Amino acid sequence: MTCSSRTRSSTSGWRRWPAPAFAPRSSVYRLAIQGGTPVVPAGSHVRWPVLGEEERRAVRGVLERGVLSGQLAPEVRGLEREFAALVGSRFCLATNSGTSALHLALIGAGIQAGDEVVVPAFTFVATAMAVLHQGAVPVFVDVEPRFFGMDPAKVEAAITSRTRAIVPVHLHGVPCELQPIAELAVRRGLVLIEDSAQAIGARYRGRMAGTMGLAGCYSLQSSKSMAAGEGGLLVTDDEEVYRKAHAARMFGEDSRPEDEASYSLAHALDGNRAYDSAAVGWNYRTNELSAAVARAQLRRLDHWNAQALASAELLGRRLRELPGVTPPEVPADRVPAFHKYRVQLDASKVGVEAQPPAVRDAVLRALRAEGCEVVLWQTQPVPGQTLFRKMEAASAGRPDRRVSYDLAQYPVTRAILDRSVVLFSQTYPLAPQPPALVEAYAEAFARVWTRLPEVLAR
Ligand SMILES: Cc1ncc(COP(=O)(O)O)c(C=O)c1O
Repeated sequence: MTCSSRTRSSTSGWRRWPAPAFAPRSSVYRLAIQGGTPVVPAGSHVRWPVLGEEERRAVRGVLERGVLSGQLAPEVRGLEREFAALVGSRFCLATNSGTSALHLALIGAGIQAGDEVVVPAFTFVATAMAVLHQGAVPVFVDVEPRFFGMDPAKVEAAITSRTRAIVPVHLHGVPCELQPIAELAVRRGLVLIEDSAQAIGARYRGRMAGTMGLAGCYSLQSSKSMAAGEGGLLVTDDEEVYRKAHAARMFGEDSRPEDEASYSLAHALDGNRAYDSAAVGWNYRTNELSAAVARAQLRRLDHWNAQALASAELLGRRLRELPGVTPPEVPADRVPAFHKYRVQLDASKVGVEAQPPAVRDAVLRALRAEGCEVVLWQTQPVPGQTLFRKMEAASAGRPDRRVSYDLAQYPVTRAILDRSVVLFSQTYPLAPQPPALVEAYAEAFARVWTRLPEVLAR
């Protein structure tokens, strides 16, 4: 593999820098916020996505072929076949975003305007936005604090006579506790669509994330584990879902098997298209360059997921030794595909009394000073966003269509966001970082947490 991680690690400062000892054993160091030397040397991170010779070759191949788009074009169809095989689904559709894949899944599942769809309050807005694209109503439920998945009891309580679907999210790449939600969906006759945008290649009880409901959706946006710039994938075993989503992806035109059989590169833009839209549709197709890059990334997916998991375990072992620090759990019944690494903080466990957001922000500042990449990624439950505030206000005068997005309904989401930071960032995520850098994060964290009162006093 020729990729920048090798170049990077051989040119970074690690060889010159002493191996970091984990727990700061003496107080003979100054934090970077106090003028000390940052634990993580500048320039040590590996940038994401890692693009190597395979991606360059793939892109060159597309340019030399001269076919840039088409739902039957070779890179798009190749990606669909390879991804379907990877996750073990009958059908796969490549799209221009994870959001459009989610929208197509809802269309394929027959969700209509006015239907209610249960989504988590802790997710990226796209989960709910796709529901709105279909004219349906997102109903937000709170999450549980271990894996940040929907709380099954709250899902059950949110079901009304209008509910048609549940969309659990495997947030940050750790599969959520899906079994009770899937059982609930079956019991109540609801559609289950998995938002696996952040969990490509993750497994839950031996099954691939995204393959346990009627449909599963993934994002290929640049920060994701298969980074294609922009893009998405929808998988399903259900032929009708596939057929409807396929048509909606291209202006509502039904696909005909003979179109694929007669596809020719020489007439890539012509073909035997019927030009007959049978339903409302969108242009949610992706393009050959993105698909080619995604295929190259797919070949390294296992490599990066394994590296991210090893690093998460290493970091988790160290951080767990610090009282009041809760790194992500890796439960025995699932294999995460770590996309984000969220660490929860409880200062009271080290005898420090302070508001959780103040602790979070002070730790974030101190870690950044130590050279760490640290972000918040979301600061409020999704229903707190202006769009949903406006929707709630607008619905007030319509008892038949009243939506309640009262933030008091999402205490766990709010607590998680108030008291956690995400180590690493989208530009420099966990997966490609060398182990020495991960060790350095543990050291930086231990130093900052051990001196929490001083950190808060800055
Ligand atoms: C949980 C979740 N769902 C859906 C999406 C939407 O994917 P995209 O940005 O490709 O539209 C994202 C992307 O950030 C996401 O994180």
